[in-house]
Amino acid sequence: MNRMDPMDPTTRPGAAPPHHGWYLLAFDSELTEEITPLAIGGHRLIAVREDDRIRVLDADCPHRGAHLGHGARREGDCLVCPFHGKRIALGDRSRTWSVREHPVLRWGEAVFARLGDHPDGDRGFERAVKAWAQEFPLVKAVTLPVAVAPEYVVENAFDPDHFKAVHGVPGTRGMAARPGDAGELVIEGEFLMQTSPWQDARRLEEVRWEAVRTGKVRWDFKPRFHARAFSPAVVVTEFGPAHEMQVIVTGSVPTADGGCLARVAIGVRAAQRAALPALIAGSEKALGEDKVVWEHLNPYARPRYDARDAPVLAFRAFCADFAAAATAAAVEAVDAAEVTR
Ligand code: FES
Ligand SMILES: [Fe+2]
Repeated sequence: MNRMDPMDPTTRPGAAPPHHGWYLLAFDSELTEEITPLAIGGHRLIAVREDDRIRVLDADCPHRGAHLGHGARREGDCLVCPFHGKRIALGDRSRTWSVREHPVLRWGEAVFARLGDHPDGDRGFERAVKAWAQEFPLVKAVTLPVAVAPEYVVENAFDPDHFKAVHGVPGTRGMAARPGDAGELVIEGEFLMQTSPWQDARRLEEVRWEAVRTGKVRWDFKPRFHARAFSPAVVVTEFGPAHEMQVIVTGSVPTADGGCLARVAIGVRAAQRAALPALIAGSEKALGEDKVVWEHLNPYARPRYDARDAPVLAFRAFCADFAAAATAAAVEAVDAAEVTR
């Protein structure tokens, strides 16, 4: 087969195969239909609701590529394809006609899907989610289309200097990246702030006035920042002191136009629930600030990294590991297609 076959989804122009691993694919509220069409870049998917369960499968009918998210109907354990009516099994590879199923993790309102069956694809995410999910149920904070490659969104957590320049955080300390125990990438450090931003407004005012009166700024609040990227598309940040910690999940899903859909979800303990509206507003504001920079940068500019960019470089190396695996998987898919034609 010609490897540039325009009918082959893995070689379709502008639809580079996405990397394997985890994606924050959707919020529960986006999956309103029994069958919802979705995509990760050029990889077309469907989400199928079964009562409380959500399953994520490839969207292309194996017969001639009709999209099962547009017009297929559920019949028993199959989908009936809208093009020629074949019964397509859900993830059962022993059947002649079936579509591939992808692992799904649900954490509060967030639905995660993992592409590919690369043995190294999980990077400890499943176990980590189990540990967080009970105490920090996720709620939807932001969904925002951004005209930038998806890696920039997750890279943000590994870019210490941008917190001050873009978001006005007074300072950071530490902020070093290292590999985690399960192959995820970790960055850890502290933010330097005058006081907790989620304290009551009166206390915030007092602290500001004290700084004006004395001419001295005291960094009395040093929240811990501990972020773990589990794929180039998902980073989970624990932020703040242990007793009022918040868990912030940032995800990016590539869109067919080369940009991405950024999503942020936030989890806090039950006792902190009242702080959620302010935290959601804060993350909306922050993502808007990032978007201005992302959408005006030149991705082709030759970077001149310096020592302070070490965590960014660590993140880029982490991503390259995933990209290589995705390319291998795509070649495998093309070869498999050759056999069945
Ligand atoms: S394309 Fe689905 S049955 Fe033909
Ligand atoms: Fe940012």
